[in-house]
Amino acid sequence: MARPAQPTRMVRGFALYEGFLTRAEQEALVEDMRGMVRAAPLFSPQTPYGKPMSVRMTSAGKYGWYSDRKGYRYEKRHPGGGPWPPIPERVLAIWRAVSGVEREPDCCLVNFYGEGARMGMHQDRDEADFRWPVVSVSLGDDALFRIGNVTRGGKTESLWLRSGDVLVMGGEARLAYHGVDRIAFGSSDLLPEGGRINLTLRVVD
Ligand code: SIN
Ligand code: MN
Repeated sequence: MARPAQPTRMVRGFALYEGFLTRAEQEALVEDMRGMVRAAPLFSPQTPYGKPMSVRMTSAGKYGWYSDRKGYRYEKRHPGGGPWPPIPERVLAIWRAVSGVEREPDCCLVNFYGEGARMGMHQDRDEADFRWPVVSVSLGDDALFRIGNVTRGGKTESLWLRSGDVLVMGGEARLAYHGVDRIAFGSSDLLPEGGRINLTLRVVD
């Protein structure tokens, strides 16, 4: 793993490690994701307002993130009834390299963005303790990521996340609003059919 000791960029407390993963490491992670999705197929959650989300998702670890009319939450089982698969070792290695904490994550949320998928501005606040960071890994097509403030609204700042970039949301950035305005579909050849995979690692309990 090409591990810069320091982030290549800081944006409002978000620590960006550009080009953190080599192409070979990205390809190996995609293989890990294929195995994960076989065990825990992608699904399209509904927001609490009853709207389907445009991203498809699944999880690995002790908990998986889930949403429906009852709200956003973590669940111990996939909606199909089975357990979530374990978090792949290669994914844990990224957490250990950049999180700065000893504890291991409880959840690896996998978001798949097909053409036209996006994610509205939100906070990650379904976890018990916001002192633990969230680590995000981008694979495939470039994404226009928007960073806001700890309260809704106000000035925002955007940056492109590219395949192999790792972003750490900790400290002042942990509760900042963020979202994905759009992906540049087909900008990467990592996934043969195009699209983007984002992994977020979280401590839940
Ligand atoms: C998320 O906030 O869960 C996803 C962020 C991303 O796709 O980069
Ligand atoms: Mn988020």
